[in-house]
Formats: sequence, C-alpha cells, structure tokens
Amino acid sequence: MKQTEVRLDFNFMMKEQIGDDSGIDPGDVDFYSDSVRTIHDELTGKRRSGELPFLDLPYQDTSHIKSIAKDISQTYENLLLIGIGGSALGPLSIHNALHPQYYNQLLAGKGTGRPRLYFLDNVDPDETTALLEILDLKKTVIVVVTKSGGTAETMASFLVFKEAIKKAGGKIEPSQVIAITDPVKSDLLKIARQDGYRTLEIPPGVGGRFSVLTPVGLLSAAVSGINIDDMLAGAALMDKRCSDPDIWQNPAYMKGLLEYMFQTRQGRHISVMMAYSEALGTIIDWFVQLWAESLGKKHGIDGRTVFTGQTPVKAIGATDQHSQLQLYMEGPHDKTITFLRVNKFNTTVSIPEDFRDMEGISYLGGHTLNELILAEQKATEVALARNGRPSCRIDIPVITPSVIGQLFYLFEVQTAFAGGLYRINAFDQPGVEEGKKLTFAMMGRKGFEDKKKEVDSIKKDDRYVI
Ligand code: PA5
Repeated sequence: MKQTEVRLDFNFMMKEQIGDDSGIDPGDVDFYSDSVRTIHDELTGKRRSGELPFLDLPYQDTSHIKSIAKDISQTYENLLLIGIGGSALGPLSIHNALHPQYYNQLLAGKGTGRPRLYFLDNVDPDETTALLEILDLKKTVIVVVTKSGGTAETMASFLVFKEAIKKAGGKIEPSQVIAITDPVKSDLLKIARQDGYRTLEIPPGVGGRFSVLTPVGLLSAAVSGINIDDMLAGAALMDKRCSDPDIWQNPAYMKGLLEYMFQTRQGRHISVMMAYSEALGTIIDWFVQLWAESLGKKHGIDGRTVFTGQTPVKAIGATDQHSQLQLYMEGPHDKTITFLRVNKFNTTVSIPEDFRDMEGISYLGGHTLNELILAEQKATEVALARNGRPSCRIDIPVITPSVIGQLFYLFEVQTAFAGGLYRINAFDQPGVEEGKKLTFAMMGRKGFEDKKKEVDSIKKDDRYVI
C-alpha cells in the first residue's frame, strides 16, 4: 500500500475487538460472498454497457475545462457558483478540502491571478442580498450548475444575479456566464445557446450527487489552481481497488456491506461520519446527500415496499466530542461511526510551554495541536470500542487532490454497491422530484395546477398551533 493511499481500518467493527454483541464475525462477511459476487457482476456489466458513466469519469479529457478555467482566471476577480444539492456540494467540498479556510481573504493583495470563489446553494434572501452587496458584479463570472436545467432555486438565483449584472454594467457579456448542464434536455442549455454563454456538459446518465468529477466539481477547482488531473488520477487509483471482486481487498464493498449488516442485523439505522479535520467537513455534507438520497427508498427494484436507508449524520472532531459524543458513547445502540483521520496536516502548530507550576495546563506545553487532535481521535475510537460501539476509520495520509479524488470514488462505489445489497435503485430520487414539482406548483408554473390544488386543499387546525 502506497503512502498516498487512503485506507479503511475496520478493526473496531469486528467481534475480536468489540465483542460478540456488537462486533461482526468475519465468517458472516464471507456468508455474503455470493451476493457480493452477484452485485459485482451487475455493476461491472452495467458499466460495460454504459449505464454507470460516473465510474468512467476518472479517464476523461480535461483540456476543455482547463482552457475555460484559464480564461476565467485571467479575466475575472470573482467566481460565483450557483447550484443546489449535487450541483453545489461537490465543488464546495473540493474547495473547502483543498484550500485554506478564509481563502478569499488570504488571496487579497497577493496578486495570485486567481479569482475569489463564492458558492450560492440556497435561496435565502438575506444571504443573496449580502452577496449582491459585496461582489463587484462587473468583475464576476457566474457559473450556473444544474443538471436538469430548470431547478427553481438555481434558476431563480441566476435570474437575480443576471439582472443585477445588467443593472451594474448596463450589459452582460456572454463570456460572463458559464452554464454547466445536461447536453440535451435543459432550459438552461436553451438560454445559453440563445444568449451565447459557454457551456460544459454533465454527461447524460450522471446524476447530480454522482457528478463531482464532471465539470460540476472540476471547473471551479481548476480556476482556483487545483490540479484536477491529480484528482482524477486518485479516483482512477481507487477505481482499481474498488474493481476487485474480493471483498477483503475492496474498501468500498467492505464498507458498504458492514453498514448494511449493522443496519439489517443490529438495527443500527444511523451512520455518523466524524472528521477530525475542518477541511473535510463539507465532504461529509456531500456524503450525507449521497448516502441519504441514494439509499432512502420506498420501493425496491422488484416494486415491493421496502423503506430502506440509513440516516447519515455529520460530526466534527474534536468539537463534537464536547457535544454529540455523549450520545454515541451511552445512548441507544443504533449507530455506526466512521472517522476521517488526517495523519499529516499541512501545517504544524506548537503549543507553548507556559504555567509550568499548574499540572492541569503544563502538560500541553511542548506538544503540537497536530498531536492533540490525533490523540483525541484515537482516544474517542478506543473509548467507543470499549463501550461496544462499532466504528471504523478512513486513514488519510495527507489531504491532496489525489486523496480527495480517492475519497469521492470510494464513497460513490460504496453507495452503488449498497444499493445492490438493499436491492433498490440508488440512482433515482423520486422523493426529491416530488418536492421540486410541489415547488413549481406553489410558484404558479403552468402544467402543475393539480399539484397546486393538492397543496391548497390541506387545511391546518388552529388548535395545533400554540
Ligand atoms: O442528486 C441529485 O439528483 C439532486 O440532489 C440534484 O443534484 C439536485 O436536486 C439539483 O438538481 P439539478 O442539478 O438538476 O439542479
């Protein structure tokens, strides 16, 4: 195993370490070998026939993305990405993982030739107003991301900023808007063609939450100087590891199966992901969407009612040791914990030696914050294990574009594989689509009148409002 590869350590999910009550017997993993083989064959078969194009994204040609990115960097001071769900969490998680916090402030006055990055993934009027106030719109490129090309939130924000740019500069340059969308079925595509905006495509068959390694995630990354080819190389490395039919060698299959076993055999319906790293927090948000939206299903592929899915929860160490951890340590036995542990941070911060006569403080001196955060992660997993609480750890040697590419690919294959175990379609989202339709109806979109009547017919009882 190379130093730069992420590793899955699932010792504390196994019965040898945490006991028979909560631990998994290795023989029980082997019991699923036929199912693993069947799902593996289904996934590889679908990949071969082009039904799972997200699996081949590591091998794309990125020259067009890089050329648009270079042009943006040379022309604009700000990049504003507008999208929601899978069309925003991917790019935002890359940004937060690979750039320091306070990135925009750190760029100030440095003459890096890189635009500041802003992400708008909600329609909160106050947030939008604040952005309108701080951005110099004439110097801002707008990247609109929507696979369907018509999501209400994204298109509404786009209209707001388009109008504001017109007001600020008199005219919007076609080069000032980049549309990232479906290449065939998309109102945004029609607008882009009509107004002369540049477009980048989200390949057909790649759904929002599986689109991070398309221009959705790659364009803003390239604009900010991230080596997107290294990121794809990391994903390709993980592809190799996750193509192994042997579950004992395949981290995505093993992680998917363990979560499935914990839920179906022990009622562990909650999957907590806890990063001991601020930089990886948004990757957890991205994963939460992936796991929840892919596996939370009412119907199985055979049409039966199944109500599947594990509830993903985000936690950040060490902060949440002082909040959620009490529940994880002593609350109901309904959770698994996945730690994201970064073994080497980009910087080292020493803790000064001070207050030498105070034992409760002086022991910290001479250590580093790096040692402290890693010690806390280890202490937490050991304490959980001693309480019979299953956890596993994704060891991250250091945060690089390659490592981030590995993580995205690992979690995507884990999710696709888990879909096979639950026998559900991990790639649709009927619940989300229903919400979109109801929004269209409430906002008066033509063709959704019946849905509007449905909503209007619901009468609330004042007795239940206090
Ligand atoms: O994963 C999904 O399909 C969704 O979360 C979408 O990403 C989200 O609803 C946004 O959709 P769109 O990209 O079509 O605007």
